[in-house]
Amino acid sequence: MMPLIPVNEPLIGEKEIEYVNEALKSGWISSEGKFITALEARFAKYTGRRFGVAVNNGTNALILALRALNLPEGSEVIIPSFTIISCAIACIYNNLIPVFVDAEEDTWNMDASKIEERLTERTRAIMAVHIYGHPVDMDEILKIAQKNSLYIIEDFAEAIGSEYKGKRCGTFGDISCVSFYANKVITTGEGGMCLTDNDELAERLKRLKNLAFIPEKRFIHFELGFNFRMTNIQAAIGLAQTERIEEHVAKKVWIGKAYNELLKPLEEEGLIKLPVEKEWAKNTYWMYGIVLNNNLKTTSDLVMKKLADKGIQTRPFFYPLHLQPAFERFSWFKKEKLHVSEILYKYGFYIPSGLTLTEEQIIKVVSALKEVLL
Ligand SMILES: Cc1ncc(COP(=O)(O)O)c(C=O)c1O
Repeated sequence: MMPLIPVNEPLIGEKEIEYVNEALKSGWISSEGKFITALEARFAKYTGRRFGVAVNNGTNALILALRALNLPEGSEVIIPSFTIISCAIACIYNNLIPVFVDAEEDTWNMDASKIEERLTERTRAIMAVHIYGHPVDMDEILKIAQKNSLYIIEDFAEAIGSEYKGKRCGTFGDISCVSFYANKVITTGEGGMCLTDNDELAERLKRLKNLAFIPEKRFIHFELGFNFRMTNIQAAIGLAQTERIEEHVAKKVWIGKAYNELLKPLEEEGLIKLPVEKEWAKNTYWMYGIVLNNNLKTTSDLVMKKLADKGIQTRPFFYPLHLQPAFERFSWFKKEKLHVSEILYKYGFYIPSGLTLTEEQIIKVVSALKEVLL
């Protein structure tokens, strides 16, 4: 068996071990402690937001954010079809209805020009998700949100450090959510955060993530909350990671640009499409995706299998949410046709993009791809 080049690997340094040891020795091993507050402050500052509320994963960050908005039951939330299921789950668990919008062919993000046709009198929010490191067209989304008095939940789990027109992803949502899963630009093992500039929303997020305890009346609850607390031990890892965040972002960009350069000939031959970087965007290439041209008479499944045989690990693109079998039992589920998302799933996949990837490994991945495709 050939050595495997993993699709992703976290970068864990000595500082993480030092901080985790400190947390353990201090006895603050649950969700209070100095690493939680330090991580919240430092990551909020990096993102450019006033408040950060750490939670135990990115899915729960989205659930919490929608709960904090207190939308009427049955309200509709515009979300991309081409994204992780967490985005739809966050709606459904809040008794809200996800309304799916197709993707753009080049950025793979939600096509903002198709949002307005999906609005109804029940639409209350738009979930703006940045896919694989490239920002979604925020101006268009902000314009529609403002015109129709809609909230924006921003999901920048895949776009830490990415920028839209010079502004960092994570600064656009009424509440912005992020994940610190092991494959993200920074990790806490499992973890996430909600960020906002709004005092009242920040208070609600803090309260709701902690079983809706209120300090004045301990054990009397006026609302149903969640236990979405991150531990001080996880935050210790996260703080060490956040201290090096610029380095992590730079490494992702370096990997992305290296692949761009080396895979260009395959694109020029019309075999694959590479990720783009719009003139208004900073793409951090969180995961380096490629899309096979559909005239190749092969699909991502087959190519991924051949790459696996050569020791290269890959992952398929998202399965479109508008086709998910898990939603079939819901009355709102229409199984509509969203052509671009379906094509992306069929022909797209991503190649090794982890923070530990070396130049030598990048060259190996590229030559394996060439062998498979040429
Ligand atoms: C865009 C996006 N949102 C949300 C999540 C969910 O985060 P978590 O895995 O931490 O629950 C992920 C992936 O992990 C993601 O890629």
